[in-house]
Amino acid sequence: MSSIPRDAPFDSTLDLLADGYDFMAKRRRQLHSDIFTTRLLLQDVVCLVGPEAARLFYEDDRITRRGAMPITTLTLLQDFGSVQMLDGAAHRCRKAMFMSLMSPDGIQRLVDIAADRWRERIPVWAGRDRVTLFPALQGLYCRAVCDWAGLPLDDDEARQRTREFAAMIEGAGSIGPRNWRGQVLRWRSERWARDVIEQIRDGSRPAPEGSAVHVFATHRDLDDRLLDPKIAAVELINLLRATTAVARFVTFEALALHDHPEWRERLRGAADDEIERFVQEVRRFYPFFPFIGERVLVDLEWQGHHFAEGAWLALDLDGTDHDARLWDDPESFRPERFLTWDRSLFNFVPQGGDNHYRSHRCPGEWITIALMKDAARWLTAGMTYSTPPQDLSIDRMRMPTIPHSRFVIDHVRRIDAPAD
Ligand code: HEM
Repeated sequence: MSSIPRDAPFDSTLDLLADGYDFMAKRRRQLHSDIFTTRLLLQDVVCLVGPEAARLFYEDDRITRRGAMPITTLTLLQDFGSVQMLDGAAHRCRKAMFMSLMSPDGIQRLVDIAADRWRERIPVWAGRDRVTLFPALQGLYCRAVCDWAGLPLDDDEARQRTREFAAMIEGAGSIGPRNWRGQVLRWRSERWARDVIEQIRDGSRPAPEGSAVHVFATHRDLDDRLLDPKIAAVELINLLRATTAVARFVTFEALALHDHPEWRERLRGAADDEIERFVQEVRRFYPFFPFIGERVLVDLEWQGHHFAEGAWLALDLDGTDHDARLWDDPESFRPERFLTWDRSLFNFVPQGGDNHYRSHRCPGEWITIALMKDAARWLTAGMTYSTPPQDLSIDRMRMPTIPHSRFVIDHVRRIDAPAD
């Protein structure tokens, strides 16, 4: 068995907070190795990168997500009892619940609802001196996904839910006040979602057949029992919060259009596949989910290394999407690279790898891509706007990150969109 190089400090938790997205890449360079051991939260963790490691993380059933995430992150994202914490047949059964919502018709319905919101918001933005795009988009997607899920919100509720979902995402990668705020607001969301599930079950609240809230309230796990209302609420929040988070990728699309204005011209009226290449490059290029953790269930050998039962592993998702052996000139924004991409299930992993139904790959990936494609049309062909001077830098220490100014626009004007 080959030995794995070790990161020197006794514990690197503070270095992780200081280096953020670049923590693993920096140590790979220092140690001249794709694999290394470091210590986080006083425990050894083996850090990996690349398609073979992604195959291990997503294809191999000798590993689990249970016990692989700090509790402060877990409770703001997927949480106990969620699909991500399940393995094997139990995981596939719960995953099918999510995937049943992802038919082409279902996805198109969500895109149409979001398009209605763009149509409604652009004239409102046009009437304002300036608009901060990121929070405006969080509100837009929160309302759209709740509507799609069978939970139409009024203005006050929409503001409240947006605040809660946004705080959970913002707090997930931090410790201290940002995390605590997320925990408090999560508690409120969960209470609301639990009430919704119980009201649907006792018939006091109507829910359209086939809507997400109806599917979650009536889903039966492998044991043929309805989900505990707390778990159904957790899954509902996972769907609503994560779709609200598409706002972050759409803000990065606006940043890409700002930094590469030639793409604004190219995308106006572009064919669907060209828009898709732009969206894929935004998902590859900009940092979102930095890495993912796993625990080894039984002793295993991988690429000449031994991982003992209980070992903690971490896969660098952002590092895989920027690996110079896989991506030519990875630090350049070049959507054309997707003309020749081999469509491997393991080399492009912003939302995980392998098969959506079988593995822990993100069930919302198709929704994300569809919403981003439609957003690219709205940003280029549905409106014009200016970008006043502001700090658009991205702080790579903050996870998840966003441009400092959160992308301020002004002089918004509605134009007739081909999307219309
Ligand atoms: C906004 C951009 C998004 C990003 C960057 C993202 C990222 C990811 C990643 C990396 C994973 C894999 C985690 C793992 O390996 O354990 C994942 C899983 C998951 N995502 Fe997403 N996601 C996004 C949007 C969505 C959306 C729209 C949904 C709505 C359905 C969603 C729901 C989930 C769920 C439920 C899982 C757990 C799946 C499982 O364990 O089988 N995500 N996501």
